[in-house]
Order: sequence, then C-alpha cells, then structure tokens
Amino acid sequence: MTQQQMLDLIQKLNDYSYAYHVKDEPIVPDAEYDRLYLQLQTIESSQPDWIQPDSPTQRVGEKPDNGFANVAHTVPMLSLDNAFDNESLADFDQRIRKLLNAEKLVYCCEPKLDGLAISLRYEEGRLVRGVTRGDGLSGEDITSNIKTLYSVPLKLRTETPPAVVEVRGEIYMPKDGFEKLNKLAAEKGDKVFVNPRNAAAGSLRQLDPKITASRPLVMCAYSIGYVEGWEQPESHYDGLLQLSEWGFRINDLMQRVEGSEGCIEYYEMLNEKRTDLTYDIDGIVYKVDKIALQNQLGFIARAPRWAIARKFPAQEEMTRVLGIDFQVGRTGAITPVARLEPVFVGGVTVSNATLHNKDEIARLGVQVNDYVIIHRAGDVIPKVVQVVVEKRPENTFEVDFPNTCPICHSDVEQVEGEAVIRCTGGLVCGAQLKESLKHFVSRKAMDIDGLGDKLIEQLVDQKMVKDPVDIFTLHEKREALLKMERMGQKSLEKLLSSIESAKATQFNRFIYALGIREVGEATARALTSYFNELEDLMAAEQETLVEVDDVGPIVAQHVKMFFAQEANRETINGLLKAGVTWEKKQQASLEELPLAGKVYVVTGSLSQFSRDQVKDKLLALGAKVSGSVSAKTDCLVAGEKAGSKLTKAQSLNVPIIDEAGVIALLHEHGAL
Ligand code: IVH
Repeated sequence: MTQQQMLDLIQKLNDYSYAYHVKDEPIVPDAEYDRLYLQLQTIESSQPDWIQPDSPTQRVGEKPDNGFANVAHTVPMLSLDNAFDNESLADFDQRIRKLLNAEKLVYCCEPKLDGLAISLRYEEGRLVRGVTRGDGLSGEDITSNIKTLYSVPLKLRTETPPAVVEVRGEIYMPKDGFEKLNKLAAEKGDKVFVNPRNAAAGSLRQLDPKITASRPLVMCAYSIGYVEGWEQPESHYDGLLQLSEWGFRINDLMQRVEGSEGCIEYYEMLNEKRTDLTYDIDGIVYKVDKIALQNQLGFIARAPRWAIARKFPAQEEMTRVLGIDFQVGRTGAITPVARLEPVFVGGVTVSNATLHNKDEIARLGVQVNDYVIIHRAGDVIPKVVQVVVEKRPENTFEVDFPNTCPICHSDVEQVEGEAVIRCTGGLVCGAQLKESLKHFVSRKAMDIDGLGDKLIEQLVDQKMVKDPVDIFTLHEKREALLKMERMGQKSLEKLLSSIESAKATQFNRFIYALGIREVGEATARALTSYFNELEDLMAAEQETLVEVDDVGPIVAQHVKMFFAQEANRETINGLLKAGVTWEKKQQASLEELPLAGKVYVVTGSLSQFSRDQVKDKLLALGAKVSGSVSAKTDCLVAGEKAGSKLTKAQSLNVPIIDEAGVIALLHEHGAL
C-alpha cells in the first residue's frame, strides 16, 4: 500500500465514522468498517512513520503521565441564568428588548443537554486539547479521554479551517447506553451509576482512556467559544450549521423562533417530547440569535445577558422514607414499596416508590427514615435510585423481608435464579384474589363494567366472592350487594346486567382473563388461534405449546402448569357452567391473516381511535405490535406529535404511515 492509499483509507474510515456517529446514518455495515480498520492497523504497524494524528487508530492512547493538568480557558466558560416559568422568561425577553431598543427578537432554542460542558481547541483544523468547564475560568485537560469519542472530530472536515477555534459543547451518555452500562455493572457486582449525567462524569474522569473509550459517550456542539483568523457567521444558528459542516454533531431539535411567544411554544413542544428523547435534557437554552446583539448585551457576573435556561420540572428529588410496606400482586409476587414523605417530582406529588425486590433493597442499602433520591420521568413508575448516605439520621433501621405472606401468612418461595419472592397461597390469599379479580374483569379481559377496584376489595373482604366464578352468582346476593358502599338500586342493576352480558365473550379474552403468568393479550391471541378448542389448549404438552408464535419454553411451562392445577380446572369448569361462552367460529390461523409476520409500532396521538384500539385491530389482522422501532420494524404508524420513534424510523428507512394511512389499511382488510 502506498502512503497516499493509506491516507485515502483514513479518509474513508473517518467518513464512515462521521456518518455513523455524527449523522446517525450509517453507510456501511459494521463488518466493512472493521475490515478496513484492520487493514489500516496492519499498514501502520509496518510503517509506523506514516501514522497520522487523525487516524482512527490514534483515538485510544496511553494514560497521561501526570494525571489531568489544569488549563486556563482562553475565554471563560459561563453559566446561565435560570427561568422556572413563562413569566420570568417573558421578563427576560422584555429586559433585553429594552436594552436593545428592539420590538421583537429572534431566539435560537436548543435542548439543554444534561451532561458535562467541554471546550475543544483546534489549531489549523487539528484537535489539540479538550478541557472540562472546571470553575469556568480553568478546567482539567482531558484530551486523551476526549479523543476516544467518535463524535469528536480529530480533524475538522474542511480544507480551510480557522487558525484557532474553540468549540464548546456537552458530553452526555444516551439513555440506552446508560441502561446497558448499569446492567453490566450490576451483573459484575460493581457500583451502578445514579443517572446518565453521573455516568458521563465518571467516565470522563477515568485516568485510563481505554475505560473512557468503552463508555457510550456522545459530544454535541452548542457554540463557538473563541476563534482566530476566521470571520464568524452573523447568527448563532448559522454558527451551529458551520460546526455541523466541520464534522460536529449538533442537536437536531434546535430551532429559531420569534419573541417570547415563540419561546413558550418551543417549550411546550419539547416538554411533550422530553421522555421520548434518547438522551436526558433538563431544560431549554434560549439564545439571542444575532451575534452583534449578543456582543452589545455582554455579560453580568458569570452569565451572558443574551441567554437564559428555562428549566423543566426536576425528575429527581430528595425525600425521606417513612416506612417500607410489602404488597402482594396478582401472581403472588411480593413487592417492597417505600412509603415516602410526599415530594413533587417529574410534575406530580409522589408518596410511594417501588423497591422492586429483596435484591434491590440490598443493592440500595435503604433503611426506614433514610433520605433517598426519587426519580420519576414521564408516566414511568417512580423509583428510588439512591440513598443519600451522608444524610443518614441516627434513627434508621432495616426492614426484614417477610418469611410468610404479609396478607394470608402462607409460605413464601423464591424460584432459583429469580429475584422475586412469591406467596404460595394462590386464590386463598386475599391480595392475590383481589388482583386476579381486577384483572379478570378488566377491559381487555372479561370487560365487566361497574365492577371497580373498590367494590372488588369489599366483595373479597366480606367473603362474598372467593373466586371468579362467584362473580356470576352475584345476582343471587342482591340484598347484601345493596348494603355495599355507594351501591344504589340503579348501579346494582347496571352491574348485574354487565355481568350477564360479559358471559358472551371471546376465546382469547377468556384465556387472557385467566391471568396465566406471562400470558398477555398478544400471547392469549396467539394461543387461541393455534388451538381452536379450549380442551386442546388445556391438554397441550410443552412441545406443542412452543410451536405457537411468541411462546417460548418458559411461557409454555406456565401454561402447562396452570392447566395442570386442579383448582384452576375447577374454576374454568365453574365459569363454563355459569354460562361463560364464546363463538367457536373457525378462526383463521395466524399465518393466514393478512398482516401475519409484519411488525408494527404505533406512536404519537391519534384523533379518531386510541393507540390501543389501533393496536388491537392490527393484532387481530395477524400483525405483531412492538413498543420500539428497530431494523425489524415493517411499518411505523405515526400520529400527531410523534417523537423519537419517528426520527428513528426515518433514520432506519422504516415505512411510515399516518392516521389516515392506518385507517385506510384497516379498511382494506375489513377491520373497520
Ligand atoms: S450555552 C454562555 N447551550 O448548561 C452560554 N449550554 O448552565 C453557556 N448546556 O455548563 C452555555 N446544553 O454545560 C448552552 N445547548 C446548550 C446547552 C448548554 C447544556 C449546559 C452547559 C453549561 C450549562 C449552563
């Protein structure tokens, strides 16, 4: 290989890596990249004099000899003033319009990435140094670690770079990378990180660049800090576009808006998208777009007058554990729950958080009266992520995991290899019975209107219902029912009539309603279209069950065990005797259905149907419905305000249809 051929090879590898790490649009398979990389390594080891500083092999180097040196920033790295509501945002806009004597201002809006600020110095287009923010005036030289990030260009993608340019941006860890890293750490018994920001900080602080290289970090540029020998564009936005051309990743949600109204609209848009994003953000940064105006406004203390951060409600807060309770679920799983001093987090007041299982209590080391950090994002169940050990009061105490069921006092068992501890009481356990009944009557199961959670709890507590069959004998207990809380003649009639009409159900709903472990709606549907008759399903052996789509050995075992238990067979017989029935139509087998084998994802808001309704109909046509977009997705149904799933589908070239499109599709196959 000639030296020129090697230079071309470097260029090619850098182009591929830019497409993958900066543009999110891979142009070659990983294997092709790896093959060329190996070629480059081979030539470099036989011709060490030819090694170029921007060769991808130079990203992971040796440990810096004397740790991280302290370096003064050419231009200080400022912080930002905060606005916590629309009013203070409007005040900010008014204040600076007055100073500038301007009617209306154009702002550049950017997500405020939740990571660590970095300043990268390029001389004649080559990366010479990467420095942390530090105290704003000087920071640590972490160049050796920075070079391991593929989203940081080692050389700017231009023939005419400025003599000197300092690019500023944020280094963060995307959520999926964070989850994977923590899972691995937990498996190895290592310390897990509390959130992606801490994980990013911890990863950059490593003295060995090999460790940093193994961490999924991303750098996104958000401003030009300093430049020599080059004329800056007139606006901040154009500056960002220039950075993008030079090979930096910039945020694809940045947008120019007019006035404080535009800023507020952007806030609302991004707040909706926040939990769907693949990375954490803690707010929005609004910047006056015109650089000349920025210069006119200048700074006060440590913050620019021309920018402000609008913070989102925090997703993490500290509070105190008042107690630890144990709840028993439908399948007997005993879940510890922390009762908390109420705290406002992620936009709601939280007073309980799950502690998952025994192992999780041990991992967190949480005790009653401890101060803990609670995390709540979007509609996700709040969870305890960390004990604030420094604040541990003297009166804390551990809670022992119960040796018997806290509700029915039956023995508990732990299946080997599982973290969950279960009550063995089955329907004898009041808690399991209540949860099983709630599931049995739920909308996607037997769909019995008027039989709410509160009523079920009373019926079980008063021993009027001991299993699902008893629901169908409630018409014999009118008098007792009328004595129940909030039960009048009218609501009783309504309840009894919906119980009566629920008897005519569908085979798949019936199977789902039984609450067999691991048998959700889709699996119930798959089972019932494979086995047309209940008797066949009940008698099926494990080998037959695994032939059903979506049924693996574990699910097959649960199904087999469920039907093997005498008590369950009795319940099923009782239900059939009570009149539960379904139309035994010759169902088409799954493979014959029009959307068989196709994987759909539904996202965004729809106006004519709920997402669940659309999913049901797609499932009924034989499609699989998945929660996340991947290369295996056949089609994305994207409603209004679709977020990251839409972006991902676009980048993977997954076909996308809107609400009208899916309605047309359902019509075409007679599902509407
Ligand atoms: S601009 C003078 N833009 O927020 C302008 N900062 O509180 C200063 N940050 O330490 C920074 N995303 O690490 C800017 N799009 C963005 C940002 C951003 C995150 C961080 C940055 C800084 C802190 C300021």
